[in-house]
Amino acid sequence: MLLVDDEPDVLQGVRTILEHAGYEVTGVGSLRQAVGALASTHFELIVTDLYLGDTDLGHEIAEVAREQRPATPVVVMTGRPTFDAAQGALRHRVDDIVVKPVEANHLVATCARVLRDTELARRNQELESANAVLTSVLPRTIEMKDPTTSGHAARVVGYTDSLAMRCGVDAEQRASLRLAALLHDIGKIGIPDSILRKPGPLTPDEFEVIQRHPAMGYEVLAPLREHGDVRDWVYQHHERWDGKGYPQGLAGEEVALPGRILVLAEVYDALVEERSYKPAWPVPKIVDLFREQAGRQFDPELAHLVADGLARDGKRFFAAAPGQLF
Ligand SMILES: [Fe+2]
Repeated sequence: MLLVDDEPDVLQGVRTILEHAGYEVTGVGSLRQAVGALASTHFELIVTDLYLGDTDLGHEIAEVAREQRPATPVVVMTGRPTFDAAQGALRHRVDDIVVKPVEANHLVATCARVLRDTELARRNQELESANAVLTSVLPRTIEMKDPTTSGHAARVVGYTDSLAMRCGVDAEQRASLRLAALLHDIGKIGIPDSILRKPGPLTPDEFEVIQRHPAMGYEVLAPLREHGDVRDWVYQHHERWDGKGYPQGLAGEEVALPGRILVLAEVYDALVEERSYKPAWPVPKIVDLFREQAGRQFDPELAHLVADGLARDGKRFFAAAPGQLF
């Protein structure tokens, strides 16, 4: 760590405390030296005196430390623990303040905590990046592969979640369902462009290839070991209530309720949006289709719930606040 104090006695005293605690310490006596050290070396932590004469040394070092990648946490030591000093420290986002004369155990505990918090924040950031890949990069990848469905996955997430909420699906299952909705067509990555982007009608052989995308999605998502239900719902998103869907021909409640919700939401988006091969359907035509397909393509209860809702509220049905329609 980097230790900064303009009083040689204090510098030596604090250095001894920190070295006793097992830290490797570089000690400097001025802002200029500190900035120089920061430019050439990455430190895990900076412990600095708050004041150097009238200059608020600690704050200036905090500014420099924050611009580093990764940002280095800062603990300031001050002999004048005033409200203003604390406010200033907060404003400059230093990580903690230790009052002088420094008490060894307290300083060591503070350093350990700040290092731990920094590590936690770093791991959180990594998780967020990984999450961004899952929730934004992957859907964009699918859309790049199949541009006819621009924005489809994101909309299906919204429709699915709204419907799941109305049907009393619990929070945990809804989170899995949102993921399944987002990734339902990920298996299309494995379908040749010549078939996926073919303008005219498909031959039976080509259709057979298209029908492999749910299984391919199931395979791609194999590493999501703790999300077996996400994989199942992706696998089942072209099944039908009457058992005439694919790939397994599951019927009725063999597909769990969240999976049946996804089937319906996905079809709703395909109908309500314009596609290269069809115009956007007006809501009454969609309502008719859902009524007609209740018990055929769709879970009859779900299909009627949606048909009634759309007939009553139009497209707002899928945007309405939870619980509003019951
Ligand atoms: Fe699909």
